[in-house]
Amino acid sequence: MKEKTFILLKPDAVKRKLIGKIIKRFEDRGFEIVEMKMLTLSREMAEEFYKIHKGKEFYERLIEFMTSGRIVVMVVEGENAISAVRKMIGKTNPAEAEPGTIRGDFALSTPDNIIHASDSKESVEREIKMFFGD
Ligand code: CMP
Repeated sequence: MKEKTFILLKPDAVKRKLIGKIIKRFEDRGFEIVEMKMLTLSREMAEEFYKIHKGKEFYERLIEFMTSGRIVVMVVEGENAISAVRKMIGKTNPAEAEPGTIRGDFALSTPDNIIHASDSKESVEREIKMFFGD
């Protein structure tokens, strides 16, 4: 089933000049990029985006990191995009992510784990709306 998912390249990916390499993985896999832009998150947007983590031990560090530089947001489309992209990015903690996954190949720590991708249909809708509107 063809579907869309939302991907965010975090400030560490932009600073480390990994945007091209990461996008290439999705294009090589057969996904189509249907929306894309670069921006810097305001504190308000970062807090809205990660509101389910409010109160957690890592929340402040996460918000500070996410507002520390430019990010790239995109919508990609393809077969089973939500779960296929989640598999390609690897586990949240990059130290545990399999080699061959994006986090497993490019990161070792959190919150600077390179990339975020929506984990469900509901988050795809919410996250696309936040950055690209209806
Ligand atoms: P992401 O998939 O964008 O979802 C929530 C983010 O919080 C996660 O990636 C990490 O960047 C960050 N995160 C999750 N767990 C921790 C943790 N234990 N310590 C620091 N940051 C974390």
